[in-house]
Amino acid sequence: MIRVCEPSLSDLEKKYVNEALENNWLSSIAPPVQLFEEAFAKRFGVRHAVAVNSGGSALFLALWTLGIRAGDEVIVPTFTMVATAGAVTQCGAIPVFVDAEPDTGNIDVTRIEEKITPRTKAVMPVHIYGHPCDMDPIREIARDYGLVIIEDAAESHGALYKGKPAGTLGDAGCFSFYANTGLCPSALPGVRF
Ligand SMILES: Cc1ncc(COP(=O)(O)O)c(C=O)c1O
Repeated sequence: MIRVCEPSLSDLEKKYVNEALENNWLSSIAPPVQLFEEAFAKRFGVRHAVAVNSGGSALFLALWTLGIRAGDEVIVPTFTMVATAGAVTQCGAIPVFVDAEPDTGNIDVTRIEEKITPRTKAVMPVHIYGHPCDMDPIREIARDYGLVIIEDAAESHGALYKGKPAGTLGDAGCFSFYANTGLCPSALPGVRF
């Protein structure tokens, strides 16, 4: 048995849950959410971080916010969790699959261009099991064809590509705190509330 990631929940998580219950905080304006967003953005060196209920919702919202709509095509890898392609279909768009590299499981960047059509609007690299995709050629292709990049960084908190955090290399990056993929906030190095 090889664990992908073991959840690490501490007293801090209990404290915030209890505070939320004690203070009747049922919506996203609860102060710990804002603290978390600010700490997350600082830790990853980005201007904004927005907390939502799941990695899947984050993927959908990123696509929608970046203008992906019905009939658009979005390039996704064959090897990922279903939420990646699911977010595309939630927008009414069409996932177009590109095969994975046999050694990393990440999208095979040499096979992206052959799947691009006039309807292609975005590409979603997924950093599988914390191994960053080769982002430079992906960024080059995106620039040449006018595509937006939504990184599915659900499995790659803290992974670096050429010194920069996975999830900060595209137009939007989405993370998950599902037990198998993410780390709890108190386990993020450098993040303390
Ligand atoms: C690659 C990938 N994308 C998206 C998700 C969806 O995240 P969540 O379970 O938080 O919706 C996961 C994990 O479950 C994942 O592994």
